[in-house]
Amino acid sequence: MRTIIEPFRIKSVEPIRMTTSSEREQRLRAAGFNVFLLRSEDVLIDLLTDSGTSAMSSEQWAALMRGDESYAGSPSFYRFERAVQDIFGFRYVLPTHQGRAAERILFSVFCKPGDTVPSNTHFDTTRANVEFAGAHAVDLVIPEGRQPATLHPFKGNMDVAALERLIADVGRDRIPLCMLTVTNNSGGGQPVSMANLKAVSVVCRAHGIPLYIDACRFAENAYFIKLREAGYAERTPLEIAREMFSYADGATMSAKKDGLANIGGFLASKDTQVAMQERNLLILTEGFPTYGGLSGRDLEAIAVGLYEALAEDYLLYRITSTTYLGRHIAEQGVPIVQPPGGHAVYIDAAALFPQIPPLALPGQALVVELYREAGIRSVEIGTVMFGRRDPGTGVETPGPMELVRLAIPRRVYTQSHIDYVVEAILNVYRRREAVRGYRFTEQAPFLRHFSARFAPL
Ligand code: F0G
Repeated sequence: MRTIIEPFRIKSVEPIRMTTSSEREQRLRAAGFNVFLLRSEDVLIDLLTDSGTSAMSSEQWAALMRGDESYAGSPSFYRFERAVQDIFGFRYVLPTHQGRAAERILFSVFCKPGDTVPSNTHFDTTRANVEFAGAHAVDLVIPEGRQPATLHPFKGNMDVAALERLIADVGRDRIPLCMLTVTNNSGGGQPVSMANLKAVSVVCRAHGIPLYIDACRFAENAYFIKLREAGYAERTPLEIAREMFSYADGATMSAKKDGLANIGGFLASKDTQVAMQERNLLILTEGFPTYGGLSGRDLEAIAVGLYEALAEDYLLYRITSTTYLGRHIAEQGVPIVQPPGGHAVYIDAAALFPQIPPLALPGQALVVELYREAGIRSVEIGTVMFGRRDPGTGVETPGPMELVRLAIPRRVYTQSHIDYVVEAILNVYRRREAVRGYRFTEQAPFLRHFSARFAPL
């Protein structure tokens, strides 16, 4: 059969509410044109993030009832630990309330001021936690990974020669660990190849530098390896995932992505000494080591979700629906980061609106138009998120790219929802020349995208 279907039927439904165009106009004004400040019931299709927004399966809901809420030694923890050890292969598994809690513990243990932590591309919370520990976060993605229109099967790969140069420049002693983000979220949800994982691990091992994987979207990455890398077509995503993690010393995970859970995460490692220090920090801020920041029922949902995320029919549907959205808008001329990533499609708003200069916030203009047109919520990844305002002079510096991310929640929307999104984007595309920019009317000194307010120019 040629038609690829959603590999599930729907047992429980959650109504979504259509708004009128004048309601949306009013909501936009009340929110200062910042979609983070909208109420989600005023959003029809929510593509703000794929994090914590998955639909759980009937098996996960059933597992919730098995949740044992004992403070210490809960069987729910042991089921969770067994699943993580089986898939990821690490001996020590610490549950955390989400990914960034694992990051904070990891970098608190490994980093001291003046250190450098390389990655393909650090996600914002990873970078912020590295910097909070006083270290520098350095992005070493291959050059293709920085060019939206360039096609490459593994645009998330690390530039191995650049890693070797960095080690030679700053010295092994100043690099306490190396990270790889799979898939590379900030670089467009692009995968890392097995060959690259292996090559990075060879360099790290030669210098005695531990390699940690930011594993949020590990199952999607494993499936891209199966589809695109020679020698993996006949392997299961589970086998591929096991090989990926065999090259690493540990992992941080947000189970809100490929854990198919609404909350949760973990920090895993092989090293007994490191795990002991991490466990002490876990107790300080997250909780006793058999629950971390989670309830027993969350641990159960994750233990089931990690395997469901590796099911081939699920992954085929998952990657196909993201590609479907990307292909249908790109075919009509909408500029996107190519090829579409695993969890999201990224529109290049600078190329879409050449009349809007970076400091007039083309990405923000597109985010507003998608909500105005059809009640769709997306997120700006451009000057609003990564630009800087000099606190002294007030001078604005633009971000490196002007992207808008359409992140697809897992198992939540059907093909007709995606068709509706395609239609809305194409409607905005047809009237693109009439769209104008925005200016800030309010902004916070850090993470300004969450709370800023804007006015049309
Ligand atoms: N690493 C990556 C690659 C991520 O994408 C995220 C979260 C985290 C770490 C942190 O995990 O949210 O559980 O603390 N990304 C979400 C997103 C927020 O929308 O892309 P967390």
